[in-house]
Amino acid sequence: MMNLKGIALPLLLAFSLLHFPFSESAWFINYHIHIRNDLPLLTTPPETPNLFLDCKSTGKDIGDKLMLVKQDYTWDTKINFAQSTHFYCNARWVDHKEITFDAFRAKRDESRCKKYHNSCMWSVRSDGIYFSNNNATWQNEYPW
Ligand SMILES: *[C@@H]1O[C@H](CO)[C@@H](O)[C@H](O)[C@H]1NC(C)=O
Repeated sequence: MMNLKGIALPLLLAFSLLHFPFSESAWFINYHIHIRNDLPLLTTPPETPNLFLDCKSTGKDIGDKLMLVKQDYTWDTKINFAQSTHFYCNARWVDHKEITFDAFRAKRDESRCKKYHNSCMWSVRSDGIYFSNNNATWQNEYPW
């Protein structure tokens, strides 16, 4: 009995201290990341994919994908204990532009992507990669 108390109390304290800087349920939230191809239809025939996406984190490779216009590339992630969760994507507008951008960074997105169905939304356009956390207003965060 003595032993259990001696272990349980410090553990409980450590756990609540760990929680302190972080909002209560953030570790259990499943974030949805969407990247939509909103590039203009310049290719003929129009069914030709014009965007190449390749997304990964240090621990996980989402894989690469050739995207048609209006297609959505999406995956889910939780935030790890160290709050270091970080997904980056290489986007290549075939024969035009290329950029690598952060599609999800825990410290930047934990709060802002909670506002709309826990979603981070990206739109690839002719002048850059736009971000939205409400699926209504868009900001060009990675001009290319
Ligand atoms: C954002 O809005 C578009 C157009 O209304 C809709 O097709 C799409 O499913 C929405 N995306 C999300 C993630 O809700």
